[in-house]
Amino acid sequence: MAETFGKPAPKQDPAGPEFWEKRYREEVTPWDAGRSPPEVRTLVAGLAPRRRVLIPGCGSAYEARAFAEAGHEVIALDFSDAALAAARRVLGEWAGVLHQGDFFTADLGAPFDLVYERAFLCALPRRLWPAYAARIAEVLRPGGALAGYFFWSESERGPPFGLRPGELEPLLEGAFARVADAAAQESIPVFAGKERWQVWIRAG
Ligand SMILES: C[S@@+](CC[C@H](N)C(=O)[O-])C[C@H]1O[C@@H](n2cnc3c(N)ncnc32)[C@H](O)[C@@H]1O
Repeated sequence: MAETFGKPAPKQDPAGPEFWEKRYREEVTPWDAGRSPPEVRTLVAGLAPRRRVLIPGCGSAYEARAFAEAGHEVIALDFSDAALAAARRVLGEWAGVLHQGDFFTADLGAPFDLVYERAFLCALPRRLWPAYAARIAEVLRPGGALAGYFFWSESERGPPFGLRPGELEPLLEGAFARVADAAAQESIPVFAGKERWQVWIRAG
């Protein structure tokens, strides 16, 4: 099952929560890293105090603890009950950061200083990518950052839906400038050799 998140049954649409519910309930979650990845430690260490951080499509939300323990105000958002149940088990005393809702429509309050991306853009059908870029631009304050992992693949099939070379730039460059781009330090098999750590700053 290299490079898919499980074989979709007919009519299952990764744009809706049922697709993800089924996978978390059946524990078929090949995207789940089981830990917070190494770049997050550096990111957290470099943040100013008390930042407002959004983790959209948080899944098991390992990273939420790293941000919350450092004193940041974290909203880890997912629309799947089963994903949030997994995250509650992971986060224990920090589970208050979890929120259920749809990234595209949830009322998330004041603008964020940081949006953390991992395996969320590639979970969305490509038709939703322009809406993803617009929504990130909407929820970030000017000067705020979109930071995380982006996945490239030539495969048509997904999820994970991979970016083609040159495809991320037109999505983001209207509202963001890229300030970091490096191969991911560690990758789980589904993403191995195909993901990069990038940071994009919201234009003022
Ligand atoms: C591939 S998983 C990645 C989970 C997590 N980010 C990780 O790295 O393990 C994608 C997650 O996004 C969630 N998701 C997909 N579309 C969403 C939406 N529109 N609003 C909120 N969550 C969404 C799914 O429920 C699922 O938990």
